[in-house]
Amino acid sequence: MSRIEKALEKATRLRNKTSSGAVSETLAVREDTLDVTKVSSYIITLTDPTSPISEEYRKLKSMVVRLTKQEGFKNTIMVTSTLSKEGKSITAINLAITLSQEYDYTVLLIDADLRDPSLHRYLNLTPEAGLTDCLVDGLDISRALLKPGIGKLSFLPSGKKVKNPVELLASQRMKELIDEIKHRYSDRYIIIDTPPTLPFAETRSISALVDGIVFVVKEGVASLQNISDALEILKDHNILGIVYNDVGIESLEGRYHYYYPYSQHANTKEGA
Ligand SMILES: Nc1ncnc2c1ncn2[C@@H]1O[C@H](COP(=O)(O)OP(=O)(O)OP(=O)(O)O)[C@@H](O)[C@H]1O
Ligand SMILES: [Mg+2]
Repeated sequence: MSRIEKALEKATRLRNKTSSGAVSETLAVREDTLDVTKVSSYIITLTDPTSPISEEYRKLKSMVVRLTKQEGFKNTIMVTSTLSKEGKSITAINLAITLSQEYDYTVLLIDADLRDPSLHRYLNLTPEAGLTDCLVDGLDISRALLKPGIGKLSFLPSGKKVKNPVELLASQRMKELIDEIKHRYSDRYIIIDTPPTLPFAETRSISALVDGIVFVVKEGVASLQNISDALEILKDHNILGIVYNDVGIESLEGRYHYYYPYSQHANTKEGA
C-alpha cells in the first residue's frame, strides 16, 4: 500500500470515528438552518433585505457600530423598552442579522425575556435548550447555541420555563455567565433581548451587566411619563440611543424606524 493510500485510509477511519459521535462530542453547536420562507415577515432584513425598512435597520446597525467602537470594543448590548409590545424582539433580531451580514461580524443573539420568549418564534426555530438550562443546570453555552445559517450569527434561546425569572436573571450565576460570554466571545457582538423596563425588575439587573442599551419606543404605546420613568430607571447605564418604532412615514409608504442618539433624542431627528 502506497503512502498516499495509507493516508487516505487513515482519513476515512477518522471520518467514520467522528460521524459515530466519538470525536465530535466537543463541538455541540447545532446547525439549524433557517427556512427564510417560514421566518416572520417582521424579520424584514431576511425576508426583504432591499426594502427601505431594511435600510433603516442598516442605519441603526451603523450607529451602534460607531457608538460601540469609540473607546475600545463595547460588545454587549441589550434591547429594551418602556412597556410590552413596543418592538424589542423584532429590533433585536433585525439588528443582530444586519450586524452579522453586513460587516461579517460574529454575533450572539440571546433571548433573556424568560417570561415571553419570542425570538425562536419569529425565526421559526424549535430550540431544545437555552439560557435557563445554562443558569439552572450548568449546561455549557456551546451546547445550547443554535447556528441558524445567517452570516456568523449564533442564537442562545431562552431555555426551559422557570418560575423565578427575576431571581435567576439577578443571580450571581447570571453575572458570571455574561462575564463568561463576554470573555469567551470578546470579538463578537452580543445582543440581548429583554422584557420591558417598567413592569419587570429583571431588566434593571441585566442593564447593570451590559455595555450599552438600545431603547425602543413604539408610537402610541407608552405615555411620555412612562417613558421618562423607564429612562430614569436606566439612567446610570449607557443608553446608546432610542429607536422610534412603527412610525407611519408617507414618503416611504410604510412603517419603519427612526433612530435618535440618546443625548439628542428630545429635539433631533438625526439618523432618520
Ligand atoms: N416596526 C413595526 N411595524 C409594524 N408592527 C410592528 C413593528 N414593530 C412591532 N410591531 C408589532 O408589535 C408586535 C410586538 O413586537 P415585538 O414582539 O418585537 O415586541 P416586544 O416589545 O418584544 O414585545 P414583548 O414585550 O411582548 O416582548 C409585533 O408582533 C407586531 O405586531
Ligand atoms: Mg419581546
